[in-house]
Parts: sequence; structure tokens; C-alpha cells
Amino acid sequence: MRTEQPQVIYLKDYQAPEYLIDETHLTFELFEDHSLVHAQLVMRRNPARGAGLPPLVLDGQQLELLSIALDDQVLAAGDYQLDDSHLTLQPKSERFTLDTSVRIHPESNTALEGLYKSGGMFCTQCEAEGFRKITYYLDRPDVMSAFTTTVIAEQHRYPVLLSNGNPVGSGPQEDGRHWATWEDPFKKPAYLFALVAGDLWCVEDKFTRQSGRDVTLRIYVEPENIDKCQHAMTSLKKSMRWDEEVYGREYDLDIFMIVAVNDFNMGAMENKGLNIFNSSCVLARAETATDAAHQRVEAVVAHEYFHNWSGNRVTCRDWFQLSLKEGFTVFRDAEFSADVNSRTVKRIEDVAYLRTHQFAEDAGPMAHAVRPDSFIEISNFYTLTVYEKGSEVVRMVRTLLGAEGFRKGSDLYFERHDGQAVTCDDFIKAMEDANGVDLTQFKRWYSQAGTPRLAVSESWDGAAGTYSLTFRQSCPQTPDKVEKLPFVIPVELGLLDAQGNDLPLRLQGEDAAVGTSRVLSVIEAEQTFIFVDIAAKPLPSLLRGFSAPVKLSFPYDRDQLMFLMQHDTDGFNRWEAGQQLSVQVLQELIGQQQKGQTLVLDQRLVSALDSVLGNDSLDQAMVAEMLSLPSEAYLTEISEVADVDAIHAAREFARRQLAEQLFDKLLARYQANREISRNTAYVAEAEHFARRSLQNIVLSYLMLSGKPEVLAATLEQFDACDNMTERLTALAVLVNSPFEAERAKALEAFAEHFKDNPLVMDQWFSVQAASTLPGGLARVRKLMEHPAFTMKNPNKVRALIGAFAGQNLVNFHAADGSGYRFLADIVIELNALNPQIASRQLAPLTRWRKYDAARQALMKGELQRIRDSGQLSSDVFEVVSKSLA
Ligand code: TRP
Ligand code: ZN
Repeated sequence: MRTEQPQVIYLKDYQAPEYLIDETHLTFELFEDHSLVHAQLVMRRNPARGAGLPPLVLDGQQLELLSIALDDQVLAAGDYQLDDSHLTLQPKSERFTLDTSVRIHPESNTALEGLYKSGGMFCTQCEAEGFRKITYYLDRPDVMSAFTTTVIAEQHRYPVLLSNGNPVGSGPQEDGRHWATWEDPFKKPAYLFALVAGDLWCVEDKFTRQSGRDVTLRIYVEPENIDKCQHAMTSLKKSMRWDEEVYGREYDLDIFMIVAVNDFNMGAMENKGLNIFNSSCVLARAETATDAAHQRVEAVVAHEYFHNWSGNRVTCRDWFQLSLKEGFTVFRDAEFSADVNSRTVKRIEDVAYLRTHQFAEDAGPMAHAVRPDSFIEISNFYTLTVYEKGSEVVRMVRTLLGAEGFRKGSDLYFERHDGQAVTCDDFIKAMEDANGVDLTQFKRWYSQAGTPRLAVSESWDGAAGTYSLTFRQSCPQTPDKVEKLPFVIPVELGLLDAQGNDLPLRLQGEDAAVGTSRVLSVIEAEQTFIFVDIAAKPLPSLLRGFSAPVKLSFPYDRDQLMFLMQHDTDGFNRWEAGQQLSVQVLQELIGQQQKGQTLVLDQRLVSALDSVLGNDSLDQAMVAEMLSLPSEAYLTEISEVADVDAIHAAREFARRQLAEQLFDKLLARYQANREISRNTAYVAEAEHFARRSLQNIVLSYLMLSGKPEVLAATLEQFDACDNMTERLTALAVLVNSPFEAERAKALEAFAEHFKDNPLVMDQWFSVQAASTLPGGLARVRKLMEHPAFTMKNPNKVRALIGAFAGQNLVNFHAADGSGYRFLADIVIELNALNPQIASRQLAPLTRWRKYDAARQALMKGELQRIRDSGQLSSDVFEVVSKSLA
């Protein structure tokens, strides 16, 4: 915990390091009640900083310095200065060697940053600034060093000792301890350092590179999980092949390792050659992991593997450039998932997520640009904006340059910057140079926060045969007060004739039509495009594939949206038309609810979904997506002032109406799919995901009827299925149903059967925390007393508290403020245990501007209570103070 007022760090203050570290030699001695870290740093003055020998200022936190020597001369207390976060000393020559020994306490590290223990194993998490909790160092990504690491620990408790790179020696010591030494030939920043010591088993495989050489692949897990590694291993091999084929990127070391740990702040970490994963992103098999979990494992394995090039070989100069590696790598993993599963479904999921959560972040007090220009605590900037919007920015570059031009640009980027720590500008420069284009204006996406609005209007001139589209862009002000200049907005579009066919697109001034779906760049605040040779008034299909992360508006009426749902050649936009239709219908219901009127559902929504259900040629996953009404969280995001109760009532009313009116078709779809599921062994592939996703959403509709035959079908699925996807859906359906006895029985049976599997118990917690039945907070409080729950495990906190505050909106936003008070108490408790998790759980309270005056006051009151609760971590301090500013 800090003792000084937290400092704001600015991008404009960036300076290259005064000193460099050519070699880093580390020896770890691990014990049960402390650990010792001996570091030998081979250093020199950074020639780029000129002559002279300024003081050397090393980062270090929570370290007990035991000894220090400069060029083998032991230093006395007066030869250096220590404060809570630095060690300062005066070098005597351009080149020198610094030796330090420190004592640290991984056994009591609950922040899960630096070296810590998870269960019985030691592991590390150094990104972003965790290495300074391990030893005194220049803990910044532009200091890249060659690491040699020796780990010494008790042989019996910690038979496996791992670090980055290649194993170069190991052996027993006296008194039951043993050692292993690892050497990483690739220079890397300290944030990519990793160490693991534990009683682990591994699954081993190999991958033959394009160039012919083999790589050894190992996934290390606790012994009881050895049967849950195959899916991650298959995903890894697919990822390695894909990066060779699509980006021409080969793996570089002879060994690649993944280790699964139970206590982890995020999804996973791309440490060089030794990725450390949250066990939730590795372990998967049919009986214990859902389809969504299987897909998440595949995507996260790919993401971390892809970082080997986009992040490790080419890394970030400073943390303001985080999206350089994260935005690019998210884009890479999204394309991988699109290629190996269903492209349109992946895009729908990603866009729904972005629009619900990133747009909300961009409209709140923590809004920041993809490349932020200041921060207090960098851990707070591993955000939806840096990751998901950052990925959209890279996607727009590809849209503008085309796939081939983009590949030329990425080849040049990797070639030019291999082994370097670079900036977002360097990435764009490589794209520009490889394609001979100027992306100066485009780069505003990196520096301007906020979600641009794009209002589109049309005009039709029958006599001239011209159709014009006028685009007006604007961007709301954000807390950074940066002036918003026009963005470059790539708009992919088509024009549909009355039969639903795409028209050839010829702009005024062009000799001939250029295709039927094309990308226009909107670069002015207001800009008109005129299409010629248009014989009858067309219907535009705008922003196909969601070609830019903007809020587009066009005055479609409901019949036009139904037409687009049927005919648009762009699958994404067919779904999007359905969403817009649903939004219009739901907003009408919300209005009726607020005025105390009888709710009346527009029958056009029923008939639109009726024809979706009746269309056997549509991909089943698409049918499932189209049946999913916009979430309460999304309806909140698009509201001026969100009325949580009216949103919930309106959406539930619509769902019930749909269930009643479409009952027979829903039941037929359910039975057909359940029949196949019953007779098919589980396969984690797109076609099977699709069948089960439709089966499951349909079952959740059917249960709204409350009919006994649906209860019977749900219980049959719950008892007789062979996989967690069907079982968990059946459980969730029961939990939200009126059948109390069956619900209780199923919950108990499930917990009894899976009590020893923490990841399955996380699901059990989440399903209950998300249930919108009355009394949600009391249920969550009771669940916190369950033996499987602990505040020390981030997965448990996310499963129970995160699901309650993020998904159970009616209960969390209870008018008496009880949900807010509860969350504030949790944040205060977590602040002392794990600041990163505390700060993330706080997010729902930062959205106070979305709610009515009474709720705003309650939410702000809780933020103030947190602010005044005592010694805050920099993580929580930053979010609370910005939320109240
Ligand atoms: N670089 C990690 C990723 O792949 C992010 C990450 C993992 C992280 N653990 C962390 C960031 C802890 C901050 C703190 O996205
Ligand atoms: Zn990442």
C-alpha cells in the first residue's frame, strides 16, 4: 500500500532509460516462510542518453534488501538511498555489475502480483509492474535483457522448476533441495519474466514448424487436472499453424510451456516460452466445461501464443503503447477464431460485447483513448478500450488497406522492429511505408477517446437516377477534454433493390461500378456520397460487418428492418437489422411500462422471429443469435437515463410473449436438437456449438411458459446429458423458473457432484448470482458463506460478485441502495487483499451517470465511502477519484 499521494504519469514525459541491463542473472531460493532473490545485473550507460553518469534509480517495492555490491564492492548503508519504491546509487563507470540480495514473502502475497503462491505452487505475474516486487530493477518495457534463472526449492514439494527459455542444467542438492537453471536467449523486458515451482504433471506433444524443426509443447497442471488438457493442446497447435499460414510467423524457441494456476488476476500471461494461465482458460473437457469455456480456452491459448510475435519479439516502448500489443493481438486471435469456427457468429459476439461494455466505458469517468496520455495505475488500463477498441482500430487498418496490403505492412513491422520496444506510431508507419499511404488523420483513433456518432441521411432523385447518402460525424466530450477532430471512418455498405438484390455501386465521377459492397472513407465532419445509375429508390445496408466502432443511426422503419433481416447479403447486418428492430420494439414497451400502460408487443417482432425459426437453411448458431434479444446491459447503455426496472419488465414481457406465440416451433426445434445431442458424443466444434446454442436458447424461452412438459424436458436434459453445456443450461433454466423444489434439488445435486472442481463451482455460483428473481442480494450473501467461496480467489469473486453486479441488474440496482452498499463493502475488503481485483469490481459503481437522481446519489455516496475508508491502493484510488471528479 502506498504511503505517498499517487503520482500521475504522462506520455509526454517519456524519456529513454539512463542505463541498460545487458544481462540479468537471477537465483531464487524458495522457502515456506520467505524466499530469497539474488540478482546480478550487467549494466551500462545508455549511449542514447549521452555522456555523464547520472544516479541509477532502480524500481523495487516490498523488498527487504539484504546485501548490495557494485563491481564486487559491498556497499555500506551510506552508499545508496532507499525509499518505498526505489533504490538509488551512483555508478562509477560506464559499465558495471550490480549484485543484490533481497528477501520477499510470496507465501503471504494476496495481490497475485510479483512472486506468489497459488495452492501449493509458486508462480509469478510480472506484467505490468510486478517485477519490481521480485528484485530491484529497471522495471520498464524498453529495458530488454538476456535472462538466466536458477530456481532452488525442496525436491519433494516442488519437483518441477520452470522459467523462461531453454533448460540448461539441473540437479539435486544436499538436504532434500534441488535446482534447475533456465536460459532465455531472447532479450526481453522484465514484465515477460516467469518462474514456476510446484508438484505438476504435464501433457507433452510436439509441433513441426514450416521450416521443419520440432518444438516441444508442454501443458503443466495439478495432477487431478491432467485429463483436461487436450483441448488446450489442440488449440495451441492450431494457433501455431495459423500464425505461420496467415502472418508467416514461426515459433522461435525449442520448447513452449503453459502452466495452469487457480489464483490469477486475469485470463493468462504471455511470458516468453512459459505462458501462465488462469486454469479457467486451460482446462476443458466435455463433462466439466461449457462450449463457451471451450471457445474461450481456444481463443486465450491463441491470444497468448500470438503475443510471441506481437508483444514479445516486438514489444512496447512504454505502457501508454499497451494497445500496440493488446489491440493487435486481440485482432489476431479474433481472426483466428473466425477462421476455425463461424466468422459471422464470432463477429456478432464481439460487436455485442464491444457495444455493451466498451461503449459504456467510453461514456464513463474512466474514458480514455486507445493510447492513453496519462495514468495513475497502469493496471487500471487493461481495459475494453485498449483491448477491444484497439482491435477494432487494427481491423479498420486492414479494411482500409485490404488483406494483402495489411500483410505487407505486418511483415514490414515485424522485420523492421524485431527485438525492439516500439510505439503505436511505429506500427502505423510500417503500414504506411509498406503501402505508400498516409494514415495521419486515421491516427486520431489512437489519441481521441469517446465513441463517434455517425448520423446518416438519404436523398433520392428519381429523375437523375441518383441516390445520396450524407454522413455527419461527431464525438461527445470525454473527461480528458481533448478536442475531437473528424475521424477516418471506413463504412462498408451496399444498396438493396426492391427484390433484396445488391445493386452495382458507381459513385458520381467514376467510369464504372465498383462491386456491390464497398468501403467508403468518411473523413469530414459532414460528407455526401452520390451514387449514380440508380433506377429506383434503394434501401441502404450500412456499416456491414461493423466496419467501424461507431454509433450509427439511420431512420429505418420496422418494415425496412424486417426486409434487411431477410435479404441483406451481409450476415452480420442481417443480425444487426434484427437487433435494431428488437431495440425499437423494446423501447416502445419500456415507454408503455413507464407510463403505466398495458404492454403491447409489436407483432412484427413475433413474425420476424417466426420466420427465422422456420428457416431451415440458416446456420443454427445464427438462428440462436437472432433469437437473443438485446441484453439489459445493452439497453441500459443506449438509454439516456436507464430505468432498470422498466427495462427488465419490458424485456421479460417480450420474451414471454415470444415464448407463448412461438411455442410449437420452439418446441420442435428443441426436440430435434436434443434428440441429436442425446445420440451424439460431445464434440467441441462449430457445428456442434451451433446445435447446442440453439437448443439451449430455445429451452430458456420454452420454460417461460411454465408448462410441465418443459419442466420434464429440462430435467431430462439435466440428468441425461454428457456435457456441461447442456447441464448448466438446464440448471440455469431451473434456477430462473418457478419450480422451487426442482430448482433446489438440481442445485444440490450439482454441487454435490462437482464440489471438488473449482471451475465448475464457479459456474454454479454465477448461475445463482445472475438470477433476477427477487431476493438476489440475500442469495449472494448466503453463497459467500459456502465452503467453496473465498475472497482470495479472483475467479470466485468474479463468479459471484461480478455476476451479481454485472448481470443481475434489477437486484444490484435495488432502489434502497443495498446492492451498492454491498459492492462498496466488498471493494473495501478487496482493496487490502488484491487491489487489481478491487478496482475491477468497482466498475459498475462508476456508471452512476446512467441512472435516475436517487440512484445517482446512492452510488456516489458509496464511492465517497470507499474514498474515505482509509489507505487506498493506487488502483482503487484512481478509479474512485476519477468517478467522483
Ligand atoms: N498480457 C496479458 C494478456 O494477454 C494481460 C495480463 C495478464 C495482465 N495478467 C495480468 C495485465 C495482470 C495486468 C495484470 O492480455
Ligand atoms: Zn494480451
